[in-house]
Amino acid sequence: MSGLPESLIQALQAVVGDSGLITDAERMHGYLSDWRNAYRGRAALVLRPATTDEVAQVVRLCHEAGVAIVPQGGNTGLCGGSIPDDSGAQVVLSLTRMARIRAVDTGNETITVEAGVILQRLQEAVAEVGRLFPLSLGAEGSCTVGGNLATNAGGTAVLRYGNMRDLVLGLEVVLPDGRIWNGLRGLRKDNTGYDLKQLFIGAEGTLGIITAAVLKLFPAVRSLTTAWVALPSAQAAVELIGQMRGLCGDRLTGFELMSRQSVEFVLRHVAGVNDPFAEVYPWYVLIELSDTQPDASLNDMLEQGLGEAFEQGVALDAVVASSQAQVQALWALREGISQAQNHEGPSLKHDISVPVSRIPAFIEATDRRLLKDFPGVRIVAYGHVGDGNLHYNISKPLAADDAPFKAQHEAIMRLIYDSTATFDGSISAEHGLGQAKREAARRYKDPLELELMRAIKATLDPTGLMNPGKLL
Ligand code: FAD
Ligand code: MLT
Ligand code: ZN
Repeated sequence: MSGLPESLIQALQAVVGDSGLITDAERMHGYLSDWRNAYRGRAALVLRPATTDEVAQVVRLCHEAGVAIVPQGGNTGLCGGSIPDDSGAQVVLSLTRMARIRAVDTGNETITVEAGVILQRLQEAVAEVGRLFPLSLGAEGSCTVGGNLATNAGGTAVLRYGNMRDLVLGLEVVLPDGRIWNGLRGLRKDNTGYDLKQLFIGAEGTLGIITAAVLKLFPAVRSLTTAWVALPSAQAAVELIGQMRGLCGDRLTGFELMSRQSVEFVLRHVAGVNDPFAEVYPWYVLIELSDTQPDASLNDMLEQGLGEAFEQGVALDAVVASSQAQVQALWALREGISQAQNHEGPSLKHDISVPVSRIPAFIEATDRRLLKDFPGVRIVAYGHVGDGNLHYNISKPLAADDAPFKAQHEAIMRLIYDSTATFDGSISAEHGLGQAKREAARRYKDPLELELMRAIKATLDPTGLMNPGKLL
């Protein structure tokens, strides 16, 4: 039983049809917990509208009835933003049926897509017209453009192309009262006041429902080289990225840092991956260079950079992929970390950022404090080092029970965020706040910024029905 008035259910059904409304508990199941099973909620029902007009009509009906809405895309988010609370009174609004590519304009270098388009499908559609859509992340086979926008997703190519925020020119949004804002403009220059689309990007569904977007296209990549490099320290990674950037400029498109612990988890749990080296090293980076020219001499550049790094003791060993299969094998070692860590029992995720230059000191200081206060916890540190973004994840001590570790969650989180604050960092570099970091944001975010955010929320969503309990 949904608990919603029968008349409302009938009105919603009249808008979205039988295939757009789920009330059956078994069919709702997948919409009510996240990828890690870290969050679980209940919902009155799940709505799956197929057009912007349908979204607008169901949002208006919910608004009039005072029913809260939780927008959901691919449900790959890592902080519980797309999961309803446990009241059973909220409605999940899934955008996955809104999956059309509306227009491609190669002259304007733009593509207009609906929010439910899966990121990988977008990448493929763009490749078909000889272009690149550069957002790339481990969940790209199931996350959606709407979710990418709502979380301002980052990923592994931010170094060169920026976050999702940098890749969008226009949005179409259904506002919390059901009005449709058509901001689907493909303009690179538009100085007519506040840039409203930026409000909805990174808002995690708390200000409205993104239904479509105009996204930028980039020149296709025609040369690529990928290397896996062993390093003595995180400090070496910061030195190496500086050197490689100086040498390669914008051709440096990926620079991912991984601790040995992270790689060990992947080697243990992900099928078909191998350690590229016989010897064990404390840190690794995955370097990717790319160019729009077919025969760019990327290998020469890479060899020059690595040669200098070996001489200075910044790099200890390296392999350069010599086939597409090897490129994929190296990326599997990196992209497998999230999945592998799930097999090691309960874990805590922190996607913090600090200034790039301070990453080594952050790791050194935080490791020390953490291991002193919580002996035996396993620190799984990796991330997008060029963005100053570390996934400083913690797995429970090897032979310990789950319960004592879970009881320490708050204290561990506090220690890590206190340390992040000491290093002038952010408690969320890319995954957002959702339910996971909402309380922490109150502690670490500037009170004036929070006040302004609340004022924006109150203006756009005065009744607070759009994804309540998330972000703010
Ligand atoms: P969901 O999980 O469904 O929703 C996320 C948030 O957006 C929720 O608050 C939801 O309410 C809101 N939302 C969804 N759709 C809409 C919409 N149309 N309008 C308004 N609000 C909406 N993230 C990174 O940034 N970088 C990474 O490198 C990265 N790697 C990942 C690797 C793995 C293996 C996994 C599982 C996740 C990873 N993520 C990463 C996190 C996640 O994939 C991204 O946050 C992604 O952008 C979420 O998209 P989604 O469609 O799954 O959104
Ligand atoms: C990644 O970069 O792999 C994800 O953002 C990190 C995660 O799953 O914690
Ligand atoms: Zn990440």
